Amino acid sequence: MQFEALAQHYKTPLYVYDFDAITTQYTALKNAFKARKSLVCYALKANSNLSVIRHLAGLGSGCDCVSIGEVKRALRAGIPAYKIIFSGVGKKDEEIQEALELGILMLNLESEAEMLRVETIAASLGEVARISIRVNPNIDPKTHPYISTGLHENKFGVELDVAKRLYIYAKHSSVLEPVGIHFHIGSQITDLEPFYEAAKVVSDLVRSLQALEIKLKFFDIGGGLGIQYDQEQTIDPYNYAQVILNTLKGLDVTLVCEPGRFLVGNCGYFLTRVLYEKTNAGKRFVVVDGAMNDLIRPSLYQAYHRVELLGGEGEASLADIVGPVCESGDFFAKNVLLSPTKHNDLLVIHSAGAYGFTMSSNYNTRGRAAEVAVEAGEDRLIRQRETFETLIALEEACL
Ligand code: LLP
Repeated sequence: MQFEALAQHYKTPLYVYDFDAITTQYTALKNAFKARKSLVCYALKANSNLSVIRHLAGLGSGCDCVSIGEVKRALRAGIPAYKIIFSGVGKKDEEIQEALELGILMLNLESEAEMLRVETIAASLGEVARISIRVNPNIDPKTHPYISTGLHENKFGVELDVAKRLYIYAKHSSVLEPVGIHFHIGSQITDLEPFYEAAKVVSDLVRSLQALEIKLKFFDIGGGLGIQYDQEQTIDPYNYAQVILNTLKGLDVTLVCEPGRFLVGNCGYFLTRVLYEKTNAGKRFVVVDGAMNDLIRPSLYQAYHRVELLGGEGEASLADIVGPVCESGDFFAKNVLLSPTKHNDLLVIHSAGAYGFTMSSNYNTRGRAAEVAVEAGEDRLIRQRETFETLIALEEACL
């Protein structure tokens, strides 16, 4: 990847995505599940740039969305409605209504109260709502607590017995059509066991529902496949698929998965230039032009992202790599070994393709970074850099 040329052309801070690498990830996962009907529904929250979604749409991917905004992004980028899932613990009435009118594949429901809202809204529209219920299997995914979602202490999903009761209710409703079942136990999971445990518990529930004449078509295993940020051992997609498929013996269901990070995480880079160096009482800081508003994962989760100094020479010493934002939590890395840097040196922050740009903000009136795609050796802008004018437009209109 020609990082220096890209940084010169598009300026920094900059996100760069390798679309060929996204294709490789998608294909590996799709092939792993080839023993069965499957639908990969890319979790848009990881990276919702329209060009990224369009690229995945071209490969045959569907989308998992968590707001009506994401549903509309998916449609705008060319994902057909019948491959779109709408998940999330809180959906507004208008969002439910619009999703029903758009005729998406299914709504993933997370509570009894939500199911009743969907029933009321579907009835008022004269529509039938295809639904799936998110089960909380109470399984510890052994990941960061902020991104663990499958324990009873987390807000997500419903317990197994509640799910069963909701399916029975839905079966008798004239406007609810239960078509799927869903679980998602967490993110950045590197241990296969929790996936197996969850799939087993939930597939047993599917069997017991079958005995009640409730036949579900979609078995949605959520996302969560971890990637390598540092030295961690990750799960091979083939093993992942085998373990899940083994729990589905005798069931005629289409396998749905909702990977986000796995598809895009290691396909993205964040480029930032050194402004200057300073030392405070002997502690070395490298101040760069990107900040926590661009990539918040290190600040928010103490997440590790490998930082590479291009063309760095000279004896490395420990440094904190920090941005210009007015918070001590504004850092990309702490105590990393780095050669001496000078003004305009380029740093490449790796594994920034997932939950990078999508979690960025305008804190400190900083415009969000530009985004660039590289595909078959060609680069192109896929999101313009925000300018001061775009940042103030909605306020200026009210002055
Ligand atoms: N499906 C559902 C229902 C989800 O809530 C999520 C992620 C996914 C799929 C995709 O998970 P993945 O395959 O990417 O692990 N901001 C955090 C990650 C939050 C994940 C939230 N849900 C981070 O930067 O690590």
